[in-house]
Amino acid sequence: MNSTTVSSISTHVGQEVELKGWCYNFRSSGKIFFLQFRDGSGRVQVVYSKGDLSEEQWEALQSLRLESSVIVTGLVKEDSRSPSGFELEGRGVNIVQIADEGYPIGKKEHGPDFLLDNRHLWLRSESQWAVQRVRDQIITSTYNYFHENGFVKFDTPILTPTSCEGTTELFEMDYFADEQGGPMGKGVPESVHTSTGQKAYLAQSGQLYLEAGIMSLGKAFDFGPVFRAEKSKTRRHLTEFWMMDAEAAYVEHEENMQIQEALIIRIVKDVLEKCAYELKVLERDTEPLSKVQAPFPRLTHAQAIAKLRELGSDIGDKDDLGADDETILTKEFDRPIFIEKYPAEVKAFYMKRDPNNPELALNNDLLAPEGYGEIIGGSQREDNYETLMQRIREHNLDPEPFQWYVDLRRYGSVPHSGFGYGLERIVGWVCGLHHVRETIPFPRLINRITP
Ligand code: 4AD
Ligand code: MG
Repeated sequence: MNSTTVSSISTHVGQEVELKGWCYNFRSSGKIFFLQFRDGSGRVQVVYSKGDLSEEQWEALQSLRLESSVIVTGLVKEDSRSPSGFELEGRGVNIVQIADEGYPIGKKEHGPDFLLDNRHLWLRSESQWAVQRVRDQIITSTYNYFHENGFVKFDTPILTPTSCEGTTELFEMDYFADEQGGPMGKGVPESVHTSTGQKAYLAQSGQLYLEAGIMSLGKAFDFGPVFRAEKSKTRRHLTEFWMMDAEAAYVEHEENMQIQEALIIRIVKDVLEKCAYELKVLERDTEPLSKVQAPFPRLTHAQAIAKLRELGSDIGDKDDLGADDETILTKEFDRPIFIEKYPAEVKAFYMKRDPNNPELALNNDLLAPEGYGEIIGGSQREDNYETLMQRIREHNLDPEPFQWYVDLRRYGSVPHSGFGYGLERIVGWVCGLHHVRETIPFPRLINRITP
């Protein structure tokens, strides 16, 4: 007997195989029993005829309930009517566990709160299975793209003594004290001393540490969970999400955007090729995805503001773009768009200024089409020691904990740039989902930390 998986039954046509998984649905019509089977790799129908089974096996089938775990054996047959293209002529069944009665997730429409409360079970639904597989492909394509282009994976810390993206969205905690009951290590600022040690913060982005990494490795990327205590209750915000930061030495603003463009094109191309079935399950219109080709249109922040005003917005010259502004802009184009050179004053301290206009940052956001909005934020970094120190002071940041970071500008400073993407935003866009909460296995939102 060949023990195999649904994803590879095409190589077993005419043979009897064994599959291990779950029964996600069933129906019976007297002498025929239809068992809807899934094993993680795919789904297939197993058709049992009473005459082919022992009395005992037939009785066992009648006791099945939704989501029972089963090992089935059967003959693989081609079947053009079934979505998988195959069907199993059932020969045997071994019930591993009969599921309790009342599996909560059924065919009827459930509200989002009910589904999120049952997230541990909802993950088994075919749509959620498809989303997680697309997510995995996007992660794989990202690693492949970077490894093929000379970037090294570099793991940045999650527990940090400072903030990367501003101090208003930090998750804070108490960290250990040293032997004298004081803060740990050098460079811990007074402001975070506590009576029992010091405060620590969950990372918002690995970028600053990645900048240290590239001075050793040249090009590097990190990929991991980041945390933002944002009080935003929108379809784009999570409090814990996965960010990929990339950084490269001797790369300037222009080339930084070319890397982002090539990465996104690669991701979308791979998903279209390798996740066609998943996109079908999700009823994703692939037409807009097939238009994700170079070159991505570019607007300066000033041009974006002008365009928004043309479209009726009253946005100010120096305003950052809000989610609604991004949605409006992306609907004007059929592919992702770069918005570059924002007013430096609304952006982070580490961004290098445009030599042609020091009021502007050498930065960009990348907005996904179809109203999805920002998926990437990036910039060239300030590489001059004096200027960077001045920016830290201008942003009212305590220079002490950034000492190691400015040190990078004292020993062999080079022009360098990087960017970070939000994995869930990309998955949401590629899958065509309304809300990012479905893109991560266990979403953390301001009003949800369970299951
Ligand atoms: O634009 P952000 O804040 O950029 C940075 O953190 C830089 N340090 C990255 C870098 O240059 N290496 O965040 C990057 C991306 C955003 O474009 C967005 O896709 C995603 O992270 N993001 C979120 N995704 C889900 N929930 C949130 N609360 C998010 N905040 C940002
Ligand atoms: Mg941003």
